[in-house]
Amino acid sequence: MITIAIDGHSSCGKSTMAKDLARSIGYIYIDSGAMYRCCTLYALDNGLIAPDGTIDTATLEQRMPEIHVSFSLNAATGRPDTYLNGECVEERIRTMEVSSHVSPIAALPFVRAAMTAQQQQMGRQGGIVMDGRDIGTAVFPDAELKIFVTASDEIRAQRRYDELQSKGQHPDFNEVLENLRERDRIDSTRAVAPLRQAEDAVVLDNSHLTIAQQNQWLLDRYHECIERHS
Ligand code: CDP
Repeated sequence: MITIAIDGHSSCGKSTMAKDLARSIGYIYIDSGAMYRCCTLYALDNGLIAPDGTIDTATLEQRMPEIHVSFSLNAATGRPDTYLNGECVEERIRTMEVSSHVSPIAALPFVRAAMTAQQQQMGRQGGIVMDGRDIGTAVFPDAELKIFVTASDEIRAQRRYDELQSKGQHPDFNEVLENLRERDRIDSTRAVAPLRQAEDAVVLDNSHLTIAQQNQWLLDRYHECIERHS
């Protein structure tokens, strides 16, 4: 069993393709972004982010050992739900409020160190598909298959807008667009494990692909990789 790392820009459909691939090849899917979103939710719930966005980093660092993230398969959806300290937070971590604070939290070196250690532990036996920003560069630099996904800003914003609408949220389109641009900016320029394409990653621009087409593209890359390694 190999390790598959899928990195790329915000809201480009990485998690949809990663989940679908994991399901069709019987691998475990891990959403590393959900883990950073959990740290952000914890900080918001515990008053560690001031209204002006300032983070109480000293307290958050002290409390990091209290943040336990886990995933459990939801039988109804066939997909994993995210749990923070035993509570299902799958919905709460996907709000615009969390999205607007997550990148500064994910840039903190002590947050990255804690999450990276957990991710490496989860993937130590291979047989996983993990998506995020630094999976092929920092978490699993030896992954056998690395994919880097992108799409145009407007298309990504439209996809995220539609997704939030379908969950009963009513976001403003421009706010969604600005949020993903701002997250890409912070994620790409941070000092620790910035978002960048690994040299050995295969690039996919899925701006004009349907979900079925992108799934097939990924499955083809998987089969090629398995052949190369057999
Ligand atoms: O689904 P979406 O692309 O909007 O974001 P996500 O994958 O849920 O990730 C949320 C945020 O977590 C990103 O904007 C990054 O700031 C951070 N993140 C990270 O720093 N490293 C990762 N491996 C995954 C996410």
